[in-house]
This record gives sequence, structure tokens and C-alpha cells, in this order.
Amino acid sequence: MLKPVQIKKDIHWIGAVDYESRNFHGYSLSPDGTTYNNYVILDEKKTLVDTVKADHASASLERLAQLVRPEDIDWIVVNHVEPDHAGALPLFMEKCRPEAVFCSPMGEKALLAHFRDAGDWPLKVVKSGDSISLGKRSLSFLETRMLHWPDSMFSYMPEEGLLFSNDGFGQNLASSERFADEVSRELLLHALSHYYHNIVLPYSRQVLQVLAKVSELKLDISMIAPDHGLIFRRREDVEFVLESYRSFAEQKTQKRAVIVYDTMWHSTERMAYAIAEGLADAGVPCRIMSLKDNHHSAVMGEVARCGLVVVGSPTHNNGILPFVAGFLAFMRGLRPQNRLGAAFGSFGWSGESVKIIGEQLSGMGFELPVEGIKTQYVPDEEALEQCCAAGQALGKVLVEKCAG
Ligand code: FEO
Repeated sequence: MLKPVQIKKDIHWIGAVDYESRNFHGYSLSPDGTTYNNYVILDEKKTLVDTVKADHASASLERLAQLVRPEDIDWIVVNHVEPDHAGALPLFMEKCRPEAVFCSPMGEKALLAHFRDAGDWPLKVVKSGDSISLGKRSLSFLETRMLHWPDSMFSYMPEEGLLFSNDGFGQNLASSERFADEVSRELLLHALSHYYHNIVLPYSRQVLQVLAKVSELKLDISMIAPDHGLIFRRREDVEFVLESYRSFAEQKTQKRAVIVYDTMWHSTERMAYAIAEGLADAGVPCRIMSLKDNHHSAVMGEVARCGLVVVGSPTHNNGILPFVAGFLAFMRGLRPQNRLGAAFGSFGWSGESVKIIGEQLSGMGFELPVEGIKTQYVPDEEALEQCCAAGQALGKVLVEKCAG
């Protein structure tokens, strides 16, 4: 029997834990899977906040049924239409037959585009600042456009200081814990950062706008209930996650480097290790990540904190290796800012890879303080010394940038 979890008096988590999923449109959920959180508020108007992914509907319905008959649900709030939160909505509509479904203006458009029957649903459009009374308590809405879809919104219950934040402040974790204070801060920060830097990063400007709005509205938030991962029920955890988001959105990086590469016959790999030696000489901690062994999501998790990203590929068919091309495409979409970059790689005869990588990094806004580093065929001692020297030079620039 799957049980609901009370998060406030008469407010319960009724979500689903997905231990199996590993791929979320290209973002790796490994090793943990994720959760689809949704909530029920038992007030005069019995209200659902979001649903779950369609193939997890039975778990949420089972938890709900222990609190209230589905047909007694009066209202459903749809904070976001992406199918991991609204995929089960048609089934919930059938079971609950609510009087009203609240969504943002863009949410209405998205619901009509996603679900054939949505034109027959009792959709009620709400905008930022609108509020609905549930009886003893109320929900007010804050549109959070492009955080991370046009339809996204937050729902806030002022009487409880409870923010239903949908994707905002989420983490991809599948576990029996429901609350952030049940895991270590280290794990929590890692999960928050990993989620942010693989999903939310391109919308950092919108994050800063939403944080400013929350501050302007003087919302007295004592609990944040996101739709993925753990719930923040202590003030100190709420402050921690808000401050973490501010830091992520401002793209504050550290005096650290990551060297990302793929290799054919170990020449580019040997160059990577020599560049790392140079960075260490300059006092810059560095992680080397082979794209054969590390998913691009894991690499982005490391890029999150690094002020320098060094990318290497040998020349392959006048281009770059596919894993490197895929990683660069993934990173370009996520739009990291305020970082130094560098390109390196071995070649046999034509040698285009370093130029291609350098141009791509420049196109993403990376500052490239040194020439691309190339070696023909197999790097000899002299070539490795040049790689090391390039690492030292890169490290020096990063150290100066971090000091300034
Ligand atoms: Fe968790 Fe945008 O869906």
C-alpha cells in the first residue's frame, strides 16, 4: 500500500517515486531516477496541485484514495503542462471530475495543444497576483514564464507560507526520504546543482527575476514543495535553496577546471593529462572527464562550478569525434556564462578539430586566453611540455580572473 505523506496539516504529498528512469530528453537521471511530486489540500475546496507522469498515475491515485475519494476533489491546479506533471491529468480528470482546473494563460494554450479533450475541461485561467480561496486557506499565483516553459507558474499559500514551486528548486532523486533535512547538505547541493545546470541554466535571467519578485512580494516562505525531489520544510533549508539558486543563476564559478575529451588512440588523452599537470602547477584543481566514460549530464554537473572548460578531440573525418560534438551541442543549449575555455587535440593530416572546438566555444561566449593546442599523431616529450605550458598559462589567467 502506497501511503501519502503529510507535509502540513491537511496538506499531503501524494506523488510517485520513479526508481527506473535514466533519461529525461537527453539529461541523464543516473544513478537515482526521479520523483513526480503532487499534492492534495483538504480544505472546503479539496484541491490537487499538479498530477504526475502518466505511467505513474496509479501510485498517486492510490495515495490520494487513502485521504479522499477522487470524485470528491473539487479543483485541480496545473502549475505546468510538461507530461511529467500533467501526463496523468486526463486520467485524474476522468476520476475526479473537478469543478475547475486552474492554469496560467500559456498553460491554457498548452493544455489545449496537449490533450484532445481539454476543450471540454472547466479551465480557469489565472494570472500573476490572482488568488483563489479554498476555505480556510488560499492559493495565489505567480507566473514564472520560461522557468522553464512559457506556461510554468508557482502557487503560494500565504496562510501556511507554503510555495508549490513545480520544477523550480527540484532535484532528480528517487528515494524514500521526502524532506531535504533527511539527507546531507552535500547530497542536496549536488542534486540541486545537477538539476539546475542540466535543465534550468539557460533560464538564469528568469530565475533572478523570479527571486526578485519573491523578495518584492515579501512572501514569508516557510516551506517549498517542488514537483521533483525533496521538500524544504525548515526555514534554514528554504533559505539554503533560495541562496543556492541565486548563486547558480549568477553563474558564480570557482578556481577550478574541467578537461573534457574523447580520444581515438590515446594521443588526445595524453595531451589532456599534460594540460592538467600545467593547471596543477598554476594551483588550479582540475578534473579530467572522458566522454566515453562520463555522460554529458555528469560533465555539465562539473562545468557548473568550473571557471575554465578545456575541450579536446582528435580530428576525425575533417571534424571532431561524435561524443565531443554531442557534448558541445548539449552545452551550447544550456548557455553557461562567465567562463574561460580552451581547445586541444591531436591530428593525423588535416587537423581541423581544434579550430572547430575553439570556434564553438567562442560562439558560446567563452573567452579563449590561449591558442588552440595541436599535436600531430602522437605527442612526444616536447609536445607534452607544450601542453603542460598551455595548462600553466590557462591556470595563471584563471587565478588572476578569480582574484580580480
Ligand atoms: Fe518536471 Fe518541466 O517538467
